Amino acid sequence: MRPTGRALALILVAAAWLSSSFAARAAAPAPVVGLHGMVVAAERNAAQAGLAMLQAGGNAIDAAVATSFALGVTEPYHSGLGGGGFLLIRLASGEVIALDARETAPAGASRDMFVADGVANDASRTGPLAVATPSLLAGLALALERYGTKSLAEVMAPAIELAAGGFPISLRHVRVLEAWKATGLAERFPETAAIQLPPAGLPIAPGWKLVQPQLAATLRAIAREGPDVFFRGRIGRAIAADVQRRGGVLAASDLASYRPILREPVRGNYRGLEVLSFPPPSSGGVALVEMLNILEGFELRPLGAGSSASIHRIAESMKLAFADRAAYLGDPDFVTVPTAQLVAKDYAAKLRARMLPSRWHRAPWTWDRDEVAIRVAGPGLGELPLPDHDTGREAPGPSDRQGGSTTHFSVTDAAGNAVATTQTVNLLFGSGITVPGTGIVLNDEMDDFSVAPNQPNAFGLVDVHGTNAVAPGKRPLSSMTPTLVLENGKLRMVAGSPGGPRIISTVLLALLNTIDFGMDASEAIAAPRFHQQWAPDELSIEAGVPADVQDALRRRGHRVKVAERNWSSAQVIVIDPKTGWHLGATDPRTDGLAVGY
Ligand code: GLY
Repeated sequence: MRPTGRALALILVAAAWLSSSFAARAAAPAPVVGLHGMVVAAERNAAQAGLAMLQAGGNAIDAAVATSFALGVTEPYHSGLGGGGFLLIRLASGEVIALDARETAPAGASRDMFVADGVANDASRTGPLAVATPSLLAGLALALERYGTKSLAEVMAPAIELAAGGFPISLRHVRVLEAWKATGLAERFPETAAIQLPPAGLPIAPGWKLVQPQLAATLRAIAREGPDVFFRGRIGRAIAADVQRRGGVLAASDLASYRPILREPVRGNYRGLEVLSFPPPSSGGVALVEMLNILEGFELRPLGAGSSASIHRIAESMKLAFADRAAYLGDPDFVTVPTAQLVAKDYAAKLRARMLPSRWHRAPWTWDRDEVAIRVAGPGLGELPLPDHDTGREAPGPSDRQGGSTTHFSVTDAAGNAVATTQTVNLLFGSGITVPGTGIVLNDEMDDFSVAPNQPNAFGLVDVHGTNAVAPGKRPLSSMTPTLVLENGKLRMVAGSPGGPRIISTVLLALLNTIDFGMDASEAIAAPRFHQQWAPDELSIEAGVPADVQDALRRRGHRVKVAERNWSSAQVIVIDPKTGWHLGATDPRTDGLAVGY
């Protein structure tokens, strides 16, 4: 019997998942195998903390919460109690929950607070005004209470031990500290430097033991007294008092009124597989599904992974989705976000029809700061009006702290539960502030808002209409993209990454490399990356993209920019459909760990 069109497509997809015959792939170690479960994180001690929970009979949610707390100790520059995050949770029952623990703008924040007279032009990134209401703990506590099996004290124990007993820092940790020191912020925030850097006279070198007794005491208080001591008790009061003393607006009442939100994930379908990702206030899920919908109309596999033909199509789909990010996305509790339209297949077909198969296409999607008119054609919503983008203020430009300031981990268990979590303090060491006596590093998530229409943030991201403008209680638009892939209702992949807007393209490439190009989990995240975010209009590529491919892309019209360093840190688990094995892969660009049992 000849297969039907749909059956044939599914066979091809299955072959792509299993095949190892594809030519263009990066050298990568084999994925780590777990028969029962897997934890993959960008830092080794934190991955071990999660594994310990699984081995002690906990489920994936217990393991995720333990990993999250531990990452806040071992990567204090990326995430922790002073920041926020998104947890995409799949229960063994099949239910999927998008748990939004994103920071909020304080009640004292206002739309023009960063462009007001006398406000420093880096105030959204550094110092007290940059601090949004810390929120991660509320999300972790809710996840554990609703879906976990262990107590807060049990899942926090590894983090407390790591903070109190210390741990030798890795080479990557060294590189991060060097990068942060080079920004000059260590002098501006001596209380943070005193904890995070070796004492004067000692070099920043692998093996130096980072001990954080004040953070250990804070974690112990939370484990003993519960999250209320943070949100409604003395820790929250200490945070607010310190921020206000420095001239910020965060108040104890902002912490007291903070609530995590349980949301519906964004759902898409790609070549017969179900893709679930994070909804607004993340832009990640919408953009990911939009790009996949566009690309579904092309046969990517015959073009070859890493070829100029496939990179061209994928990059153009990124450009389209990022244009929509700039035009339409924001916190759905404050602005109307046309999510259903943006992730609709017929909308993708219209966008695909506007792409040129062999040439970079400028109008109408590109935005040029010097252009008089901005012409973004929307999803049937008509031409967008011209925004006023003259703020009369010099923009601070992209940050030298961008790229390495968020972290992702993925967890699976034997029962079929899975968690993809991305958490952040935004830029390295967030606002720079450590609250005295607590060891808590405060975020600078306010820079994820647009300080003014079309004024790029630290990641170069713009907001055309103010949908992502600051408002009291509002959540800043994020790019964090914790993602799950299902096949016939069964879990097939858990994925995510840090990297600012490059998170979205990193997750897209992890999925395409696996689904279309048949790579295993390790190969899929080792392959050279590329990124196009519409504004600025350039195709950023890792140096591993061969020179002849770069030239071919230039001939197609792309403004190719070879990045000085590689980016992102994808942490992926693939479940083998035949055996049920959990195949974990940590990004070779960083020094994380995949551990199974
Ligand atoms: N702070 C980075 C993001 O949420 O996208």
